[in-house]
Amino acid sequence: MPQTKKNIERIEMELLLEAIFRRWGYDFRQYAPASLKRRLEHRMRRAEMTQLSEMLPKILHDEEFFNQLLGDLSITVTEMFRDPHFYAAFRKQVVPVLRTYPFIKIWHAGCATGEEVYSMAVLLHEEGLYDRAQIYGTDYNNHSLEIAKQGVYPLDSMQTFTANYQAAGGKASFADYYLARYGSAKIAGFLKENVTFAHHNLAADGPFGEMNVVVCRNVLIYFDQDLQDSVLTLFRDSLCHRGYLCLGTKETLDFSAVGNEFETVAGKERVFRALQPASVATAGGHRP
Ligand SMILES: C[S@@+](CC[C@H](N)C(=O)[O-])C[C@H]1O[C@@H](n2cnc3c(N)ncnc32)[C@H](O)[C@@H]1O
Repeated sequence: MPQTKKNIERIEMELLLEAIFRRWGYDFRQYAPASLKRRLEHRMRRAEMTQLSEMLPKILHDEEFFNQLLGDLSITVTEMFRDPHFYAAFRKQVVPVLRTYPFIKIWHAGCATGEEVYSMAVLLHEEGLYDRAQIYGTDYNNHSLEIAKQGVYPLDSMQTFTANYQAAGGKASFADYYLARYGSAKIAGFLKENVTFAHHNLAADGPFGEMNVVVCRNVLIYFDQDLQDSVLTLFRDSLCHRGYLCLGTKETLDFSAVGNEFETVAGKERVFRALQPASVATAGGHRP
């Protein structure tokens, strides 16, 4: 049966993704195909290969090659106070509710190298809530998690981070939150005290229990609709009563499996809040 070039490439992609999953346990089979293809082709060219399937034996037998490919497949671009308007909205609309809680649990899923997590620590510190908070940062990329745990970033990124911090409504001097030394900036020790980084694969692992807030920004865009639905369901199951869910600016709950279980708190900034289950709402008695 004649096959088009496109069909053959699709078969090659499926074989590669199956091999990655069965050999190494990383499941990219439900990632959005267009960006996966771009990244696989990038590694193919770097390895001076002409066909995707030439990578198959390397994936199966060459751990170093696989680790390089894993690096290509994980887009770990991030910043402190990325999309400052999100943090400004969080400060204005979520913090007043968090202030009424004796203890606050926040999960940053897909936290990459940790900048987003430390941004939240700074924000909660400035709002006087950090001492009663526990912040979890998770990712499936162990290399990124190591950088996150160290909290050491290139000094030249501080200029962008400072501008973001100010645009996000920062209340102090951003320089108070890091120590500059030999071209690097080390996050202040107190910002690590209530922060825990851990490995978690959104495509394979279970919920994190009883979170007041789940932040997962710029991760779902890489997933197909089925995987987005299963991850959003995982977030719903990880949130406590009336918990908040924060997504990236290009991500939405529209047409998702849990869309009708959340209300919108800040539309442009993608902040949502779990609705009361219907049975609870009619019985009354819960705080708003
Ligand atoms: C573009 S970064 C976003 C970082 C940060 N949330 C932000 O918005 O700046 C996407 C992150 O998602 C992580 N990621 C992708 N697939 C994942 C999965 N299945 N489980 C956990 N993390 C995943 C990547 O390793 C990467 O660190």
